[in-house]
Amino acid sequence: EFRTKREYFSINRLAAKYYNYCLLHTSEGKNAINYLKKRGIRDETIEKFCIGYAPKSWDSLIKFYKSKGISAEALEKIGLAIPRKDKKGFYDRFRNRIIFPIEDITRNIIGFGGRALDESLPKYLNSPETPLFSKGDNLYALSKIKKDPSLDVIIVEGYMDCIMLHQHGFENTVASLGTALTKNQAKLLKKYTNSVILSYDGDAAGEAATVRGMEVLAQEGLYVKVLALPEGKDPDEIVSIYGPDYFRGLLNNAEDLINYKLTLAKKGININNSEEKLKFIEQAIEILSAVDSEPELEIYAKKLASEIGISAGSII
Ligand code: CTP
Ligand code: MN
Ligand code: MN
Ligand code: MN
Ligand code: MN
Repeated sequence: EFRTKREYFSINRLAAKYYNYCLLHTSEGKNAINYLKKRGIRDETIEKFCIGYAPKSWDSLIKFYKSKGISAEALEKIGLAIPRKDKKGFYDRFRNRIIFPIEDITRNIIGFGGRALDESLPKYLNSPETPLFSKGDNLYALSKIKKDPSLDVIIVEGYMDCIMLHQHGFENTVASLGTALTKNQAKLLKKYTNSVILSYDGDAAGEAATVRGMEVLAQEGLYVKVLALPEGKDPDEIVSIYGPDYFRGLLNNAEDLINYKLTLAKKGININNSEEKLKFIEQAIEILSAVDSEPELEIYAKKLASEIGISAGSII
């Protein structure tokens, strides 16, 4: 059976509405609503992101579509149904999960993310690669941000980070859905802005992804700043615990690439140990050698000099 992309998009749209209905208007959805409430998500936010709930049953979505004359084979094509091992029939991919529909820039729904309501694994289950969905070619919530070259776009890792920042007024936020930023994602971002602020989780994975991500973004001509979060925290936690003003403060103090690299290099070194200090200075000079403009170099060198107690002249 042949279907056009347009038809698949409308099947996805209907699935998003179905999941949203299950969340808001079924008794099974109450548990999921409670979960979202516990995490601080408001009703308007559920609506804005069309958040939903996939019921526990093995085939509620398949049955729903069957009643509309749409086969499980069609659902399989877009990752909503999975063939049973014995090849006799299909089951729903998303079960007992909070559902986040993912739109492309033209607002077509290309895929879904599903979060478990408890500690069961995997924590997130996403649509597989399908003719509609390719993870590295999209950013979550890109369709919701403003196209304004002078407005910073905040890039976070996760659905919840993105949604909670929007809810707290940071409506120019997108999520890379996982960690590794791709060239295509950077190209997409360049259509919306000239400058981005990377705000990944304050853990080892987030740090590594920040270093890789900022290079990819800079290569596409984006001006990159980094908001380094306190150890073990992500943007959702920060904004939920400390509030939007605190997060705004962090945004205002976001470091440019060079300063972020210097901060990372400085992490864990004992400035009172002259051997460690010298090693750090070597690394710092390596980092600063990427700065072409002399006045800029002087600014970095002066800042660094005052931090480590040597002269800016000797660094330069
Ligand atoms: N992710 C994924 N599959 C996983 C784990 C993570 O696709 N098994 C993606 C999701 O997009 C997730 C993001 O990576 O939102 C960041 O992962 P993580 O920090 O572990 O989750 P959080 O977004 O913080 O989720 P929560 O706050 O709900 O725990
Ligand atoms: Mn993480
Ligand atoms: Mn984590
Ligand atoms: Mn989180
Ligand atoms: Mn996280």
